[in-house]
Amino acid sequence: MNKLIPPSHNSPHYSCQILLSLVLLSLHMLTPLEAYGSKVEQLPGFQGPLPFELETGYVGLGEANDDMQVFYYFVKSESNPQKDPLMLWLSGGPGCSSFSALFYQIGPVAFEIKEYDGSMPGLVSRPQSWTKLCSIIFVDLPLGTGFSYAKNVTDHRSDWKLVHQTHQFLRKWLIEHPEFLSNEFYIGGDSYSGIPVPAILQEISNGNEKGHQPLINLQGYLLGNPITTYREENYQIQYAHGMGLISDELYASLQRNCKGEYIDVDSGNELCLRDLQYFHECLSAINEFNILDSNCEDDEHLWRRSLTQELNESLSSRLTVPELSCKIYGYYLATKWISNESVRKALHIREGTIGKWERCYMNDFEYDIFGSFEFHANLSKKGYRSLIYSGDQDAVVPFISTQAWIRNLNYSIVDDWRPWFVKDQVGGYTRTYSNRMTFATVKGSGHTAPEYTPEQCFPMFTRWISNLPL
Ligand SMILES: *[C@@H]1O[C@H](CO)[C@@H](O)[C@H](O)[C@H]1NC(C)=O
Ligand SMILES: *[C@@H]1O[C@H](CO)[C@@H](O)[C@H](O)[C@H]1NC(C)=O
Ligand SMILES: *[C@@H]1O[C@H](CO)[C@@H](O)[C@H](O)[C@H]1NC(C)=O
Ligand SMILES: *[C@@H]1O[C@H](CO)[C@@H](O)[C@H](O)[C@H]1NC(C)=O
Ligand SMILES: *[C@@H]1O[C@H](CO)[C@@H](O)[C@H](O)[C@H]1NC(C)=O
Repeated sequence: MNKLIPPSHNSPHYSCQILLSLVLLSLHMLTPLEAYGSKVEQLPGFQGPLPFELETGYVGLGEANDDMQVFYYFVKSESNPQKDPLMLWLSGGPGCSSFSALFYQIGPVAFEIKEYDGSMPGLVSRPQSWTKLCSIIFVDLPLGTGFSYAKNVTDHRSDWKLVHQTHQFLRKWLIEHPEFLSNEFYIGGDSYSGIPVPAILQEISNGNEKGHQPLINLQGYLLGNPITTYREENYQIQYAHGMGLISDELYASLQRNCKGEYIDVDSGNELCLRDLQYFHECLSAINEFNILDSNCEDDEHLWRRSLTQELNESLSSRLTVPELSCKIYGYYLATKWISNESVRKALHIREGTIGKWERCYMNDFEYDIFGSFEFHANLSKKGYRSLIYSGDQDAVVPFISTQAWIRNLNYSIVDDWRPWFVKDQVGGYTRTYSNRMTFATVKGSGHTAPEYTPEQCFPMFTRWISNLPL
């Protein structure tokens, strides 16, 4: 689950945390920085040596190379890293560590889900890892996310800063890893990354055209349940009705009273507001990230409620332990795993740079890209390939909202709506457009589709990245 939109105010514990990390940071600055990536041969909790190549490290941005440090996990393709594509993955948030993608979605390891007993949480292999045929850089951006740090984190958090940081990170990373310069390069992301990823592609493309070195072999992008227009919420009504979560009568009344506008409602429109209140009551006990999944109470849930209330002290309380049967139990295990010094050592985390690791660090982000539709339109003119997929049980970015903006690009259809299959079963539905954009639903899946249905998403990715029809 990735966070979407942040609270409008900083939580009160924020300034303390910044102060603490400033103190730690200045201690750290006394020792020279190690250069770039290091191999990770073993991970605490995983039996034996890792059966894949993992490298972690930092890339310094900015002038002195020591001010802004971007942390990454790099997993080499397990097939043919010389030839296989290279992908950079950016989890949503903004501010969610790509740790989430690596450990819960598309990476080669996963947490073993069993009750935490105080010992090291276990790690197991994920057979449907996208690294079977693609090298992936999982990056912690913007600065302040995951293990990335800076002298003044507050200074470096906005959509455009994220775009420039990613672009700069990538060129520097490639200079350090010249063996990957000729590989086909893709960017992937989900959820909130629907906003920055298309802008990052445009920046890279513009940089290539201006002759910036090294040249990046940019081919395209893929996005899962991406925020794109900031109008996604407006489609929740139609979606909830189609899914049987609200009555025909309420749906008809909402349409009549709100006239299609469910986000910016006139405060004098009492009939619409009353219908919306009823609507929210109907969905209040539903897990909106996957309407079929259990609805689990934890801090993340609390956080979502704070979208409508002001964020309050309750958020700074300890992470509530979720039920073992909840998807989010894995997030709880991660906080236990990563706070152990032996894990940080194994990951080559610089001592003293990060106090408490947060999977999603949402504070202090400035929203300065107000939609990515225009970027998609620009990118298709330049001929980049794209895969846009939608877990069809996600009510946060419902598949109908994604189809609506894709339709608005006005491209003709070259392969019309049809099922795609995993063995002899329908994995979802797909349609391909003349701008080399493929849309796919993932049947029965949620907001972060590979997390819920890896056995469908793996063949979908495999076919698309290999230039085959789904
Ligand atoms: C950090 O940056 C912010 C935003 O530019 C600024 O307001 C603040 O004063 C800076 N803090 C320090 C300690 O320099
Ligand atoms: C903070 O939020 C929680 C959960 O919504 C609520 O129960 C509590 O009363 C709130 N506290 C304050 C001080 O507003
Ligand atoms: C960290 O893990 C090691 C190895 O499992 C264990 O011996 C140690 O007690 C753990 N440390 C903490 C603080 O939990
Ligand atoms: C799309 O491309 C045009 C032409 O290069 C440019 O002027 C425009 O700013 C781009 N749109 C966005 C949203 O960047
Ligand atoms: C798509 O077509 C509509 C209707 O002709 C037009 O208003 C709109 O600007 C077009 N969109 C794009 C991205 O070209």
